Amino acid sequence: MLKSDPAELRTMTLNKKPKLPKTTPTSINVGEMEDGQDLANLPIKLMADKLSVFYGKYKAVDEITMQIPKNRITALIGPSGCGKSTLLRSFNRMNDLVSGSHVEGQVLLDGKNIYDPDVDVVDIRQRIGMVFQRPNPFPMSVFDNVAFGPRLYGIHKKNVLAEIVEHSLRQAAVWDDVKDKLHQSGLELSGGQQQRLCIARAIAVEPSVILMDEPASALDPISTLKVEELMQDLKSDYTIVIVTHNMQQAARVSDFTAFLMINEQRSGTLVEYGPTEQIFTNPHNRQTEEYVTGRFWIE
Ligand SMILES: Nc1ncnc2c1ncn2[C@@H]1O[C@H](COP(=O)(O)OP(=O)(O)OP(=O)(O)O)[C@@H](O)[C@H]1O
Ligand SMILES: [Mg+2]
Repeated sequence: MLKSDPAELRTMTLNKKPKLPKTTPTSINVGEMEDGQDLANLPIKLMADKLSVFYGKYKAVDEITMQIPKNRITALIGPSGCGKSTLLRSFNRMNDLVSGSHVEGQVLLDGKNIYDPDVDVVDIRQRIGMVFQRPNPFPMSVFDNVAFGPRLYGIHKKNVLAEIVEHSLRQAAVWDDVKDKLHQSGLELSGGQQQRLCIARAIAVEPSVILMDEPASALDPISTLKVEELMQDLKSDYTIVIVTHNMQQAARVSDFTAFLMINEQRSGTLVEYGPTEQIFTNPHNRQTEEYVTGRFWIE
């Protein structure tokens, strides 16, 4: 639940067809990575444990095991349709909303499986927030957008809400843009401002993890840069998982990168996972290398 004192609120040259991976080398633990980085000691916030996600009979994500370190930015990369969004959404049970979908395996948040029957989904979505590809402010004022979550969780005192709203907007680096427009519709902001407003809305309920699905793909380069800088600022308080198609962005912002691809059954598998620098400069897997260097052939 929310803290009562808002002051305390943490607030591709296409040249050849790739061979699809035959095996499913998905059991890679961050702690097992090499290359000199002290990864073994990083606290783990979130973990997929042999996680498969199905839409009906179709297995979109196949037995992925990966550990997501606390207060770091982890990027999910890979070709379209390889299950990045599906995996991301399974991290806060957003896939529950898709009829016919189910998961096998576990997603552990601080060691507790979020799919356990005793888990409250509303609580999970408060602890694990999500920012989508297209900015999606609610059709209400800037203030009400940010206050929406806290109100849902029972905070109604005007001054408390005002502090939460200001704090969240400041943390999302959009306060200066909107401080004189708090009672204007969120839909009247620019795309970049709307996306930062959505980040503020996610922050306002004090999550510990923020999932971002291509958060900057609909934004111009300057707004993109602002969102990237913002992510760097936020990681001291939050664990961030980002899906991106932009290799430079993954290389610039993330600490760890997971490369996913579809296997012969057209299910998404984790091909390689490691420190971003290693993935981009010294990938261990040939398919990762082909992808990050842009030599990936897509049917
Ligand atoms: N709601 C759904 N119902 C049925 N199948 C779905 C649904 N959402 C995604 N899929 C399928 O699951 C697979 C993985 O899709 P997903 O959206 O996770 O891929 P992605 O890696 O995020 O792709 P992109 O880079 O294009 O966003 C695809 O084959 C897709 O068609
Ligand atoms: Mg996607």
